[in-house]
Amino acid sequence: MLKMNYWTDKWDLHEDICPCDVHFNEWVADQGLKNKLIYHFGTGTHHVVGIEQARNGLGNSVVSITASIEEYQAYIKLVTENSGVARNYLAYFGDIYLTNGKLLPDFDIVTMVHLCEFFFPNTASAEYGGMTDRQVLDLFTDKTRPGGYLVFYKNSMGSDETGKILPVWEKEKPVERMADFKTLIVYRKK
Ligand SMILES: C[S@@+](CC[C@H](N)C(=O)[O-])C[C@H]1O[C@@H](n2cnc3c(N)ncnc32)[C@H](O)[C@@H]1O
Repeated sequence: MLKMNYWTDKWDLHEDICPCDVHFNEWVADQGLKNKLIYHFGTGTHHVVGIEQARNGLGNSVVSITASIEEYQAYIKLVTENSGVARNYLAYFGDIYLTNGKLLPDFDIVTMVHLCEFFFPNTASAEYGGMTDRQVLDLFTDKTRPGGYLVFYKNSMGSDETGKILPVWEKEKPVERMADFKTLIVYRKK
């Protein structure tokens, strides 16, 4: 049995280096998106997407993945001390490349801001059982409700690879590109 490919690091809020989570919260507010179910790729230790969406009064709920033990421990501490955040924000520990679609609901908004960043040499091997980045994107595209949104990050470490996937994906899937917002690329599902 192989070990899960977890992230041995953790990520605090660095708005100057990686503003995508802050920009995402700003985009949600700018668009006036209310009562939406959001899937967010990469909690960070700071959990700013889950916290802000739980507190901003828009009625949105967030499910977010982390592959970092320290980030997950930060989530446990966070919700232990904040029942309002616990009610509206669910973080879970896992490798997004191992996503089992049966375990997740459909979403109104999906962030794929770290697509192509954490693919390991063994990720898509039969033994490990993971997906390619394109397969991850397809799974979450299928899990996005019609009229919903998929959001990418222009300055991602995986942006070169993501930039190769998106032109093919947007032709093959029922999506249309909308206006960019700051560092974010936004698609709408038809
Ligand atoms: C550079 S940090 C960015 C965190 C946050 N989104 C931000 O911009 O501040 C990358 C995030 O991706 C998560 N991550 C790394 N590998 C992952 C994997 N295989 N599956 C799911 N999440 C992963 C990490 O736990 C971390 O939250």
